Amino acid sequence: MKKIGILTSGGDAPGMNAAIRAVVRKAIYHNVEVYGIKNGFQGLIEGNIEEMNVGSVGDIIQRGGTVLLTSRSEEFKTDEGQQKAIEQLNKFEIEGLVIIGGDGSFRGAQKLTEKGYPCIGIPGTIDNDIPGTDFTIGFDTALNTVIEAIDKIRDTATSHERTYIIEVMGRDAGDIALWAGLSGGAESILIPESKEDFDGIVNRLKRGKERGKKHSIIVVAEGVGSGFNFGDRIQEATGLETRVTVLGYIQRGGSPTASDRVLASRLGGRAVELLLENKAGRMVGIQNNQLIDHDILEVLSDEHSVDLGMYNLSKELSI
Ligand code: F6P
Repeated sequence: MKKIGILTSGGDAPGMNAAIRAVVRKAIYHNVEVYGIKNGFQGLIEGNIEEMNVGSVGDIIQRGGTVLLTSRSEEFKTDEGQQKAIEQLNKFEIEGLVIIGGDGSFRGAQKLTEKGYPCIGIPGTIDNDIPGTDFTIGFDTALNTVIEAIDKIRDTATSHERTYIIEVMGRDAGDIALWAGLSGGAESILIPESKEDFDGIVNRLKRGKERGKKHSIIVVAEGVGSGFNFGDRIQEATGLETRVTVLGYIQRGGSPTASDRVLASRLGGRAVELLLENKAGRMVGIQNNQLIDHDILEVLSDEHSVDLGMYNLSKELSI
């Protein structure tokens, strides 16, 4: 392979730039030309493509967001859109494509693969919801953003002796809520993967109050429903003064943690190796700290699962 392309798609995630840098530099190291496609699959359809060099990815390893920009393209979901994308790749003589993104982006990669175009998927999403990898790029940074927020909210929660509901992102997955709740010392965690035990939560809050607890923190995954509705129910059932914070898009930004930069660099490097070995149609990931790759057409048929052992532990630790 002498020319490859790279794009980011779907929700941005901290560490995407580190992955772009790794792909570009590793490819150039192996005398392969790299073309950056701006604005995800939509930019690909529109031919928004330009050659990258070593300098194009200088000073970006520490930056959040994606220098290639991103989008959620409706046009690319159509057969016509996918054909146009392949025509652009052929026009630029790009022989293989690296796609960094979450599950929607992987579905896009699958469509191109089904049409015979060589693709490699790199999991980049704060949600950590891609099957076949222990971690996705951006999850660790988002998690650290959330626990920083929890620590701050805890200060005001103690001063006012209030209960705080903190709603976090994650789409249909509970990973951000679970990991942030455990590491932030939350009293209760609500995730879509486990049935809500409302009475248990209320009893825990009441018990805490009786033994002189000054505040309580409950982390709610957005996939469970609105934090505001849950806050109303809690206030009504406990009589405790309750406040709600929806953390929102703050979770998507910021400088990537060291862990995300290392993960992004390793996955980016491996993606290029696979293309050089002519092993396309793969998704790269990490399992037990080992780089692995899976058939991209099969990976989304597996269910992503949270660690229920961790979930049970969080309950035991917040008696
Ligand atoms: O997938 C990342 C994510 O931030 C989810 O956690 C969230 O549900 C969604 O994207 C929000 O999407 P949008 O950027 O389209 O509002």
